[in-house]
Amino acid sequence: MTDITISRRAALMGAGAIVAWASSPARALLAEADPQALPARIEAIVQRMTLEEKAGQLQLNAAAWSGGIATGLNPPSNGPSFEGQVADAVAGKLTGVFNGNGAEMARRMQDAVMRQSRLKIPLIFAADVIHGHRTIFPVPVAEAASFDPDLAMRTARMAAYEAAAAGIDWTFFPMVDIARDQRWGRTMEGAGEDPLLGQLFAAARVKGFQGRTLADADAVMACVKHFAAYGAAESGLDYNSVDLSERTLREVYLPPYKAGFDAGAMSGMASFNEINGIPSHGNPWLLRKVLRDEWRFPGFIVGDYTGDEEMIAAGFAKDGKDAARIALLAGVDMSMQSNLYAQHLPALVREGAVPQAVLDESVRRVLAVKHQLGLFDDPFRRIDTKRETARSRTKPALALSREAAQKAMVLLKNDGDLLPLAPSRRIALIGPFASGQHDLNGPWVVYGDNNQAIDLATGVKAAGARNVSVTPGSGVEEPLAGGIDAAVAAARAADVVVLAIGESETMSGEAQSRTAITVPAPQMALAEAVAATGKPIVVLLKNGRGLALEGAVKDAPAILVTWFLGSETGHAIADVLFGKVGPSGRLPLSFPHESGQEPYYYAHKATGRPAPDGPRQPYKAQWRTSPNAALYPFGHGLTYGKVSYAAPVVPATLPWDGRIEVAATVTNSGTRPCEELVQLYIRDRVASITRPVREMKAFRKVALAPGKSERVAFTLTREQLQFLGKDLQPTVEPGTFDVWIAPSAQADGVHGTFDLVRLGVRSGRS
Ligand code: BGC
Repeated sequence: MTDITISRRAALMGAGAIVAWASSPARALLAEADPQALPARIEAIVQRMTLEEKAGQLQLNAAAWSGGIATGLNPPSNGPSFEGQVADAVAGKLTGVFNGNGAEMARRMQDAVMRQSRLKIPLIFAADVIHGHRTIFPVPVAEAASFDPDLAMRTARMAAYEAAAAGIDWTFFPMVDIARDQRWGRTMEGAGEDPLLGQLFAAARVKGFQGRTLADADAVMACVKHFAAYGAAESGLDYNSVDLSERTLREVYLPPYKAGFDAGAMSGMASFNEINGIPSHGNPWLLRKVLRDEWRFPGFIVGDYTGDEEMIAAGFAKDGKDAARIALLAGVDMSMQSNLYAQHLPALVREGAVPQAVLDESVRRVLAVKHQLGLFDDPFRRIDTKRETARSRTKPALALSREAAQKAMVLLKNDGDLLPLAPSRRIALIGPFASGQHDLNGPWVVYGDNNQAIDLATGVKAAGARNVSVTPGSGVEEPLAGGIDAAVAAARAADVVVLAIGESETMSGEAQSRTAITVPAPQMALAEAVAATGKPIVVLLKNGRGLALEGAVKDAPAILVTWFLGSETGHAIADVLFGKVGPSGRLPLSFPHESGQEPYYYAHKATGRPAPDGPRQPYKAQWRTSPNAALYPFGHGLTYGKVSYAAPVVPATLPWDGRIEVAATVTNSGTRPCEELVQLYIRDRVASITRPVREMKAFRKVALAPGKSERVAFTLTREQLQFLGKDLQPTVEPGTFDVWIAPSAQADGVHGTFDLVRLGVRSGRS
């Protein structure tokens, strides 16, 4: 049994329970230490640096190595040739580069800098190692569906082990932006819609990448991004403005960043968006007051890709020089890709527009981190071409990728126990994702290769299915000539159809916002035609976001969410299809009935006119055409068992300084073993600030053999009931609370109520 219940302390401090480091003496030392207090030999370097060299230490650019991947990844890209970039590095105009091509590039650049530069300050090499380096793991939101932060820690550790050998010191991960609008394409990169899940995964990922200590040769520094509330973009449009109350910002969006920083992340990235009129790259309240004064963050903040320069287009800075001034003063220590810091900071300091002390502070932060990464002791510690090859795609890494993929899949529906399939059945694999090494790894992969990943058809055949036909039937967003006829013929000749449809990897990820979050029309036409044959259909959904399912896809008897699963996609899907392992993933985000419900999330408010449970009534908060609920809610996911919830134990009162145990008994009356994710939700019925209809407070995975029961108990204390009061300070109010122990945010499970009582105060509103 994996126990991921949060403790009392975790409830108070976010993911504190799994982040022992946050309260460790080492962190306290770092947080309290004067960030300017560098070892004498490094301080001596600072003393010798020119203004130009200082500005250079705050300038990070995309690698120019022989058309390295970064050049194509994120236009507008960098100008210089590799030789030009090495010369810039030697001249002290760069602090490092990102998304280059591995150890050989890093060796050449570091070698030149250590031999030829005046001050011999080692370069730092960064990369977007988001869900794996060479071995690709499921996209982060899929991994979050495992509800298993320990798994996320292990995949992050493995990614760091591979990436560090390739010369990478620093990953631009984890992305911890809460995503409550599925039109936003970067949903795939985070942990979904829930703050608790977000905190636990943020902390686990930071710890996985950074390992025991940053100085270790296989530690990779984490970067908590995108600070802040990048996922709250209006209308789900990437980069769009965010208009958000401070309450929601602090209660929903900020906790995962804090959990990542508390777990020890020594860098963070400013977000592209503005919040309430202020771009994050120019927001001292965010980058100095919240981050430094309140949270005591000791590391450095990097701007996002040309994010400082973008304040010009946003109407917040008048030109590049103004943008550099605003960004540095706001607290962006390092500029990414715009080159604005290298260009303008020296003059800005000379003219007195930027105090030298502010520049020096950022330089010291960056050098302190380079020091902690061990780069001053051995600039080549992570650069080793032999180790790079030896550590690439090892057997344990691929096994971990398969395990993560198995645990990431979510079984939405399984009418008539259609799944698991017997491999002896005649199977028609249909759909654009039925075969072929494309769209396997998913978005945000810099170093992985789809051509090394296992596709669905290969996995299904390797699992022993002998009678398998493969028919694409349609393109992803365009029809395929004759595709539907061929698919219908294949379906007719089979016992069962496995329909692999959904989004391609270019349909989600950065800048891939959608208005209709549906399966594209040509694939829907394919699904309808195949369904008309009357053959049973198992839908395998490929997706980087929550989707609104329609027609034959929605009506298919079995639906398995397979996201983008990475290197071992085909094997992992076959494992679940044929029942070698049971599905155990749960939705970390809601699937609405219709796109127009977005932004949709389970922890919404009731309103004064909540939609009734029964038939429609006039003048209620409800849509004309679609239910208020999700089609498949947060936390939902079936197993191959048959699990029921019974025997709730909810004490009548929770004393102010006490604790209660709430419990339920879960029973698997099915014939197959399963892993059930038991979730604890609460609702504060009456409070001085209205509270969500449900909030997840804990969860636990239990393994249940057929016929077996287990009593699952959670401890509740007053701290888990706290919220931000009128003054935005944490508060708890006596009164009545609902509690559910349930298999999803929408399921009844078992329910009870208790009163939080303060001595001398009657239950009810204080
Ligand atoms: C993204 C970041 C990423 C950076 C560097 C930006 O476009 O928003 O998440 O780390 O590029 O590749």
